[in-house]
Amino acid sequence: MPTLTVDGVPIHYEETGSGHPVLCLIHGAGGNALSWIRQLEGLAGAARVIAIDLPGHGQSGGNGSSLIDDYAAIVQHFVEAARLGKVVLGGHSMGGAVSQTLALARSDLIDGLILIGTGARLRVLPVAFERLRADYAEGCAFLSSFAFSPGAAEGLREGARVSMLMNRPEVTIGDFTACNSFDLMDRIGGIKAPTLVVCGLDDQLTPPKYSEFLAQRIPQARLTLVEQAGHFVHLEQPNLVNAAIRQFLLVLDPPR
Ligand code: COA
Repeated sequence: MPTLTVDGVPIHYEETGSGHPVLCLIHGAGGNALSWIRQLEGLAGAARVIAIDLPGHGQSGGNGSSLIDDYAAIVQHFVEAARLGKVVLGGHSMGGAVSQTLALARSDLIDGLILIGTGARLRVLPVAFERLRADYAEGCAFLSSFAFSPGAAEGLREGARVSMLMNRPEVTIGDFTACNSFDLMDRIGGIKAPTLVVCGLDDQLTPPKYSEFLAQRIPQARLTLVEQAGHFVHLEQPNLVNAAIRQFLLVLDPPR
């Protein structure tokens, strides 16, 4: 699988599709690029889809960070080093925080923004830190238990748990520390890019209220709320999420 060295760190990524538009996807706290498996599979006919492992996560080298700005810098340098041109940047949860940050700092790199299960502020339950620090495996199981709607297949919850467990504890705890200090509530009105906001109606970790706030404050935003889906709405209801993304890409870049 491909790797690109960015700021001295080997960054692994998954890629499907080709041509234009380029959809660059950023995973959430304790995650990896394969959390986008259903978008890599389902959107290959609509875009060149690239999902990266942030430093310290999945198959990338380096260490994680406890600052969203550090991750935004890596994503910026990845987009530049890979010569992707302007991208449609999509982020889930912490990846959404990274995407908002980069959209504000470097609007020249962004054609469009897709914010999934995220918010303009991402305070984290203190008990989540306590459980992760006390017993990492148990903390991963605890967080995964809130990550899907009540009717979700058990395999999804299990997949999220195992995937988080594969990252080192300090990386995942660093991610949640980064989320906990993230706050763009007063600044997101400055995002210029057309934006698709997606949230599961059963999301307990970043409730629909957070997405409604994003959609109200970002000038060119549209909101899709998805039934029977929790925080990992893109894994739980991939067909609905992919349809919303496909429609958004068509509006951004209509066929000539
Ligand atoms: N968008 C819109 N509103 C938001 C928001 C966002 N991104 N983040 C917080 N708010 C609102 C809250 O709903 C709350 O409104 P209220 O006073 O009307 O109830 C207010 O801003 C303050 O909330 P917050 O900053 O979160 O502080 P808090 O001390 O009230 O709550 C937690 C702290 C951790 C209990 C709470 O943030 C929470 O339940 N978080 C979700 C669980 C979690 O850990 N998620 C992981 C995210 S990565």
